[in-house]
Amino acid sequence: MKIAVSATELAVDGACAFVPTMGALHAGHASLIKRAREYSDTVVVSIFINPLQFENKEDLAKYPRTPEFDIELASQAGATHLWLPNINEIYPGEIQKISAGALGDIYEGVKRPGHFDGVLTVVNRLFELVKPRWAIFGEKDFQQLTLIKSMKSNVEIIGAPTIRDADGLALSSRNVRLADRDSALVIYRALSAAAKEKDIDAARAVMQGVLASEPAFTLDYAEIINESNFEKAVQNDESKRAIIAGWVNGIRLIDNMPMNGGAQ
Ligand code: PAF
Repeated sequence: MKIAVSATELAVDGACAFVPTMGALHAGHASLIKRAREYSDTVVVSIFINPLQFENKEDLAKYPRTPEFDIELASQAGATHLWLPNINEIYPGEIQKISAGALGDIYEGVKRPGHFDGVLTVVNRLFELVKPRWAIFGEKDFQQLTLIKSMKSNVEIIGAPTIRDADGLALSSRNVRLADRDSALVIYRALSAAAKEKDIDAARAVMQGVLASEPAFTLDYAEIINESNFEKAVQNDESKRAIIAGWVNGIRLIDNMPMNGGAQ
């Protein structure tokens, strides 16, 4: 695996598949890299902790950094190029921000104003520098994936399913800070219970009930949405997804699950 700091040094030949990350890699990222290998023999992984998408400076400072482990994981998973750009390459001069629009202001955007503008701005810039043919993003951040898909670009965006630990906890770089794992599992229990319900309202009620049963969990939102526009799902034949966000002991967790097997 070639490791480069500048995009010029990367010297990617031909159509590559790209996995942008902020590091602290885990099995979820490994699955994205493996997916990327299905599209191209040249897989570029970037590690760049993008300050523009952190509205909270403390969160940025606490974001886990595990560079040696990341190099090993990316290489084992099949990355051919690892790019570790510095901030001056990503943001030379004045930053032309990309607006995420109305979808950037709901759900995750309510508590994190400007977050999705920051995500779209960096993804667009990373695309400009790497020029990939495909880019792979996890469904774990479903609102992010939807917004990136709606962004104007020549890159084909591929969504990849969430990877979970054996107990159901969705893998996330933030999990390393999670002391109370048992309480965090309430999110998976709520999503799984909702997915078994045939009726949308019943699914919402079950989801809320399970979440309320865990005293260590503080709810931000729990909703069943139409997958394409993020509006509250009302029709039984819509393509639906349950989305949940909340806090366990100060750590913010998000997760989601398609609802088309059950709640429809
Ligand atoms: O999902 C992430 O890790 C980040 O939001 C991304 C897409 C790499 C942009 O910084």
